[in-house]
Amino acid sequence: MTAGRTVHLETFGCQMNELDSELVLGQLASLGYRLTPSPDDADIVLYNTCSVRDHAEQKVRSRLGEMARRKRREPGLIVGVLGCMAERDGEDLIRRMPVVDLLCGPAELDRLPALLDNAARTRAAMLADGHAADRSARQVALQGAASRRTATLAAAEDRLELLDLSRAISPTDHNGSAYVRITRGCNKFCTYCVVPNTRGAEIHRPPDHIVDECRRLADAGVIEVTLLGQTVNHYRFEHGAAVTVGGVTQPQKGRAFTAGRRRDPLAGVRATTFADLLKRIHDEVPAIQRLRFVTSYPRDFGDDALAVMLDSPRICRYLHVPAQSGSDAVLRRMNRGYTVGEYLEFVDRARAFLHEPENGRPLMLAGDMIVGFPGETDEDFAASVRLLERVRYKNCFIFKYSPRPGTAAHDRLADDVPETVKRRRNNALLAVQHTISDEIAQGQVGRTVGVFVEGLSARERKRRPAPGGAVALTVGGRERRTAALVAQGASPQLAGRTDGDLIVLFDAPPGVAADDLIGRIVPVRIERADTLTLFGSLIDPG
Ligand code: 5AD
Ligand code: SF4
Repeated sequence: MTAGRTVHLETFGCQMNELDSELVLGQLASLGYRLTPSPDDADIVLYNTCSVRDHAEQKVRSRLGEMARRKRREPGLIVGVLGCMAERDGEDLIRRMPVVDLLCGPAELDRLPALLDNAARTRAAMLADGHAADRSARQVALQGAASRRTATLAAAEDRLELLDLSRAISPTDHNGSAYVRITRGCNKFCTYCVVPNTRGAEIHRPPDHIVDECRRLADAGVIEVTLLGQTVNHYRFEHGAAVTVGGVTQPQKGRAFTAGRRRDPLAGVRATTFADLLKRIHDEVPAIQRLRFVTSYPRDFGDDALAVMLDSPRICRYLHVPAQSGSDAVLRRMNRGYTVGEYLEFVDRARAFLHEPENGRPLMLAGDMIVGFPGETDEDFAASVRLLERVRYKNCFIFKYSPRPGTAAHDRLADDVPETVKRRRNNALLAVQHTISDEIAQGQVGRTVGVFVEGLSARERKRRPAPGGAVALTVGGRERRTAALVAQGASPQLAGRTDGDLIVLFDAPPGVAADDLIGRIVPVRIERADTLTLFGSLIDPG
């Protein structure tokens, strides 16, 4: 029924979604589906969606509008919405958008092949009978409220773990870099954020599975691994502890450690902490030359993890640790669980441990800030400006507050900062960050840095379209290595990153094929800098 069908999947949002898409595509390919980078060639079009801000959802709604028009001409087309928007909007989306044939939440992705198979069968049967699409025939897999019910956690965890474990790793399918999930879901409940609702309760993957996945990736030629979690440094896996759920004692599998308990009832039970996990991956998989992790939660950073970073030369000196606001009053309303003072204490401690520019190993920090959160005054905003000036992130993502249905802020706090004020604050904060990013980039001029080469630069990809109209297949947002083969002309411009995640552009020297550099770490001398981008030239690639 489904083998040989052609699938297009477009991904929106975060790195977690990129990894989910990669796993889903791997699974579909192994079942005989053909993958296509162009929606026009596909008879199944899937969107892996993001609900963090309304803007991301709008883009998907507009794609669904396009597909609705196409479906009038091609009634056999199957359209699916995966990920956070499916989970958040649920069956409302199906009611409002008849074009949608299936919904699959982020905690149910292992069920996608079955849903697709059913959707294809029902659609074919309906068309044969001359029926219009019937809502009841649509395929829906959402966890709904169950995603936070403790009794279902172990089961959900086991099923999803299988999806991660089934990851197909092929030596030709990557550009040397890969994501590895260590934690799913989030328990923080920041008042503005949908993630705890859409991705469910925090679950930590067993360390042996993680180390094994890293090893398999390294065996396939991956040299850069980014560990993923919503609050990645909160990782903690309890080995063999037992918990009682609904009167039944069952093995505890990586359930979240409850921070802040006076007496840890699991004391004495062997646990793998985030620091232990970093050390294990670093020491047990030395072929991984760069190990990084996103996104960190400021309050959960112990000295133990910083000490492991200091002692582990292949762990990058890079931390993405969002502050979200520079005002204590706003942080309290956001339920972030720390004060500005505590955040700055962390930043100072991290720098004291890890900032070694004299050894060529500066610590680079990245952040996220929200402007226009309910009740944010001019003074609160001025405090956010001061925080940026004090922390000096190498880059900072700045967002206008977007009220999300189902979150505490949406339900309890009026969205009272006018759009014009949000926009003004957004631009002002961007300008402050622009200056800082520029200064940090200028500070790199004259240095020689190790650059992990990711692929052709964006300019090069535009300038050198693949011959014969072939389009590079992107999986998980990253271009597959084979894409570089099409650009072996003279000196294509390549893009890569430093250990501290600064973007570097340089030209492949004449006579050196781009493909020989992609996926490697090479020395580049930085000659000039523009905000967020360094320009340099390759030094004897060896
Ligand atoms: N409005 C604006 N920004 C948000 N973020 C999360 N939820 C919202 C929201 N409702 C931002 C935070 C987070 C990043 C992934 O998105 O800064 O760190
Ligand atoms: Fe959302 Fe806060 Fe969890 Fe990050 S820590 S995913 S912002 S609830």
